[in-house]
Amino acid sequence: MDKKRSSFSGKLGFILAAAGSAVGLGNLWRFPYLAAKYGGGIFLLVYLILAVTFGFTLMIAEVAIGRKTGLSAIGAFRKLNRKYSFIGYLASLVPIIILPYYSVIGGWVVKYFSAFLSGQTSAAAQDSYFTSFIGTSTEPVLCLVIFILITAVVVFLGVEKGIEQVSKTLMPILVILTVGIAIYSITLPGAIDGLIYYVKPNLKQFSLTTVVAAMGQLFYSMSLAMGIMITYGSYMKKEVNLEQSVTQIEVFDTGIAFFAGMMIVPAVFVFNGGDGAAINAGPGLMFVTLPKVFDSMPFGTVIGTLFFLLVLFAALTSSISLMETIVSIVQDMLHWSRRLSTIIVTLFSVAVALPSSLGFGKWSGIQPLGMSFLDFFDFISNSILMPVVALLTCLFIGYVVKPKAVIEEVRLNSRFKREKLFRIMIKYIAPVCIIIILVSSILNALGIITI
Ligand code: PHE
Repeated sequence: MDKKRSSFSGKLGFILAAAGSAVGLGNLWRFPYLAAKYGGGIFLLVYLILAVTFGFTLMIAEVAIGRKTGLSAIGAFRKLNRKYSFIGYLASLVPIIILPYYSVIGGWVVKYFSAFLSGQTSAAAQDSYFTSFIGTSTEPVLCLVIFILITAVVVFLGVEKGIEQVSKTLMPILVILTVGIAIYSITLPGAIDGLIYYVKPNLKQFSLTTVVAAMGQLFYSMSLAMGIMITYGSYMKKEVNLEQSVTQIEVFDTGIAFFAGMMIVPAVFVFNGGDGAAINAGPGLMFVTLPKVFDSMPFGTVIGTLFFLLVLFAALTSSISLMETIVSIVQDMLHWSRRLSTIIVTLFSVAVALPSSLGFGKWSGIQPLGMSFLDFFDFISNSILMPVVALLTCLFIGYVVKPKAVIEEVRLNSRFKREKLFRIMIKYIAPVCIIIILVSSILNALGIITI
């Protein structure tokens, strides 16, 4: 490389930026309803076990190959073994597909935040508010452009001044908001039963799909298999303790997900008069159910505003990691400056986001594979590409470059405590788990099973 690669100033910068990527809509919206749906405490337990085994293995592998090669996904795989650079190309496709549609949802969050901020709480609680908003053309597009522009400014400023600085500011606020709202939520009258519903293992709801759902969620929640952790690893200094950092990111991500459940499940439970099943509102939970819940609770406008601010921060730090990954690929491949790369990536993302936004209104007649554009892009990236990339990464590390490539990197400055676990997971258990995720998400999409 001709120019010196940028880097995080120290360990905290890396951890907060990586945690910022990991903590996103997945934690705040998807985790709570999956937990409620799949047996509360039993889902939490399965998730936790998977996080310290499966999630740990994949994350440490990605961060290590990033730091070892000092390159983002494409360059990293190529440097390790020329024949396998296609894995890097595949991994890079994922953020390129995700960023545009993630920004559409980010735009919705911008809209809800401004609605609550300006006190339109009861309007936002109307049944048709969400569908009529996303069905229009101008406003959702405007919101997504605002969301992408904020993201672009941070990426434009660079790794240390932009990403690290923003993560160091936003992540502590995010933690305070999550814990604060969770505490408020469990003090609502009747909320304790909701809390019990959330944490008590309900064995009747346990089945193989619990495990599959937890595994798929983990994957997405930790921003794995899309080159993000490779890129962030490449900005990590050699003296930082890799194993410890990865553990801390996982604790952060899982902790926020747990608290998100604590803020949402009991509140919805109270609102529904003690009916747990209604929490399975799926995607409608955040934009349809929650505004009604806020409207009905004391101080709902304030809580709603803070909640959507929290979601906005979480979504922004995630979209920053997506854009940064794409920009670093463009820089590595074309040797353009960071600024030019950022501008081009921004224009591209806005253009590709348009169908995902208009797909709920003007263009709703066009349905690839019978899905809306947004669901279609989500399906291609999350259900197909990510498991394929993760599987190839495991096989590549387990059998081509061998686990020692990762182990040596981890050992540069400390003992690798979970080395045995890592070896067994990467070679045997993780590939099998990923095949299960891949097959079940395809069967789910075809309507043969439901997850
Ligand atoms: N990990 C993020 C979440 O939990 C989602 C995400 C996916 C972020 C891909 C960036 C890239 O919501």
